Amino acid sequence: MAKTDREKTILWQLEEADDLLQRRSLDSSYPEVRIQRLPVEQLVFEAAQHLRADELVAFPTETVYGLGASAVSSKALLRVFAAKKRPLDNPLIAHVSSLTQLEQLTTHVPSLAQQLMDAFWPGPLSILLPARRDLPKELTAGLPTVAVRMPRHPLTLALIEEVGMPLAGPSANRSGRPSPTKAQHVLEDLAGEIAGVVDGGTCSVGIESTVIEIMDGRIVILRPGDITSADLKSFGVPVVYDQHLVEPQEEAAVPRSPGQKYRHYAPRGEMRVLIGETAACRKYVREAIGLAHNQGKRVAVLGFESSIGEGADFFLDLGNSSQTIAAHLYEALRACDEAAIDLIFVRGYEPSESHFALMNRLFKASGGAFIDLR
Ligand code: TXA
Ligand code: MG
Repeated sequence: MAKTDREKTILWQLEEADDLLQRRSLDSSYPEVRIQRLPVEQLVFEAAQHLRADELVAFPTETVYGLGASAVSSKALLRVFAAKKRPLDNPLIAHVSSLTQLEQLTTHVPSLAQQLMDAFWPGPLSILLPARRDLPKELTAGLPTVAVRMPRHPLTLALIEEVGMPLAGPSANRSGRPSPTKAQHVLEDLAGEIAGVVDGGTCSVGIESTVIEIMDGRIVILRPGDITSADLKSFGVPVVYDQHLVEPQEEAAVPRSPGQKYRHYAPRGEMRVLIGETAACRKYVREAIGLAHNQGKRVAVLGFESSIGEGADFFLDLGNSSQTIAAHLYEALRACDEAAIDLIFVRGYEPSESHFALMNRLFKASGGAFIDLR
């Protein structure tokens, strides 16, 4: 049944956006979407009104798009869990636009947390703080802490400021799909199911924020991200990874371990992460493509130089660092699904500090299928 205009998801775009040509292509492809092009103040005002009415509005950040909802409204938060089909025991991150807003979330900001905020906000660092007792249990999953971050995107900072309260924002994908790094990805998963999406262009970091907790005088990394343990080491306290981050990595020594439990951002095709020198990867991929083609399978090669992609059905050069691969990974996995790829080879790195976040996401997406060719 056709939706009325009121039921459609609004895609808010800046009137003065310079890449209108590319954006225009979205017009016809989503019957459940209505595009509104507005000047920045009006765009922020309209989107904020929906959020104040406890509706869901996806917003851009430097990491991935978030599915925005008032962080202080149980009604709005329950809608987030329903739209994403997310289990209720997984707490959300509250996004703030100013340090003053922290008062709505926490009872106390420890001095180390304050130093980290001064150094990294706005930016991809989420910090666990003691939660106010009157916060909705849907936000914290009933835990004594609340995760907080200030995202680095001017439209979203203006939006939170206009709403006047923190916004919860899990990645704006359907559960099991890669996180969205463009407004179009949000529409692919949630068009017709949420009030709107603020189009802020492509996310620059491309993977979710680093999540940390300050415990017993140490910084504990609960989820690795663009802010690395090396970045966090200059604050005079030890920086450690949470145990659950380290253990699954060890299981990965067995290639193609199913690791079903850790498979979150999974593409439809089988994925293998290759770690080793160019020559070894080229040899491995060439043989694997031959075998796969004999079985009628379609193969994608991601993140390698073009010579390694020869003969593949789909090839994407994702740049030549773990940061550029991370920035384009989720979009590349969506593209593989669209191209009906059965087998995906991705470039991996030795799991050192600077590559840890990428390798963590590759571990989850591949179900632990790391192949060490060193
Ligand atoms: O980059 C990001 O952080 C994105 C963008 C949109 O800001 N958001 C995001 O949210 O990734 P979400 O909900 O997908 O991830 C939140 C993570 C989950 O792993 C959750 O378990 C953890 O943070 N988390 C939140 N509150 C927590 C708490 N009180 N204790 C422990 N972990 C918590
Ligand atoms: Mg997520």
